[in-house]
Amino acid sequence: MHDFVGQTAIVTGGTRGIGKGIAESFLKAGARVIVTYSSNDAAAAQFKQDNSEFAENIDIQKCDVSKYADVEKFFEHIDKQYEGFEILVNNAGIRKDAVLAMMRESEWHDVLNVNLSGIFYMSKFAVMSLMQRRYGRIINITSPSGKFGFEGQANYAAAKAGIVALTKSLAKEVARRGITVNCVSPGFIATDLIQDLPDELRGSYIAQIPLKRFGKPEEVAACVLFLASQEASYVTGSTVEVTGGL
Ligand SMILES: NC(=O)c1ccc[n+]([C@@H]2O[C@H](COP(=O)([O-])OP(=O)(O)OC[C@H]3O[C@@H](n4cnc5c(N)ncnc54)[C@H](OP(=O)(O)O)[C@@H]3O)[C@@H](O)[C@H]2O)c1
Repeated sequence: MHDFVGQTAIVTGGTRGIGKGIAESFLKAGARVIVTYSSNDAAAAQFKQDNSEFAENIDIQKCDVSKYADVEKFFEHIDKQYEGFEILVNNAGIRKDAVLAMMRESEWHDVLNVNLSGIFYMSKFAVMSLMQRRYGRIINITSPSGKFGFEGQANYAAAKAGIVALTKSLAKEVARRGITVNCVSPGFIATDLIQDLPDELRGSYIAQIPLKRFGKPEEVAACVLFLASQEASYVTGSTVEVTGGL
């Protein structure tokens, strides 16, 4: 296990699902963790309760990453409360699936705003701070949808492909400052996000996965923690797939 004692990690959408798995893995590895969420106060309270043994290392903040003003306020809080941070995991994401011809304009914009613009806003403020430290790790969560495209996911796939391009560009911009920027691409991970999949579709997806099962948040977290570690110093602009071989 990597050692993150003395380091601070920000995990967006860290109160549920994959983000929760990532935040909990950082806590177990000794990091201070600042988790954000958008609206589900009950899940945030549950996160706090589940991780009460790490209470002094947890800061939970409501911050809608799709709103520039929220993100600006969030980083004002970080500047006021902490001497800095080393790690940003841009994990927050939503799905609003519909075939393109039937997709509402709002479904297009909502998904692009949270999944792609949110990463731009968070990274913009984060790099200003990380550049001063001349050290940093940014990990963005993309999806196989951005690589292959899936029916009904033109908005989600476009956002996730955009994340890969943003990651590669930013990696080049900040490499000289000791900051690495990478993506992790989880396959089907058992979380609320894919709970609505009909059984038939779920079965057909599992049949296509060489490991014949959906993944777990902690399996994605293991990869995120490697990329966030000092040992991953020569990895940047990359996408690591955690897909069971999909
Ligand atoms: N699950 C999969 O199979 C899978 C596969 C590939 C990629 N991914 C990606 O992995 C990431 C996490 O997915 P998940 O399955 O863990 O999702 P999830 O279980 O639905 O959890 C989403 C988390 O993101 C937060 N969030 C949503 N909108 C937000 C916003 N506007 N601002 C800040 N936080 C926001 C949620 O906060 P609230 O609790 O307040 O709603 C929640 O904490 C996403 O980027 C997703 O696209 C997931």
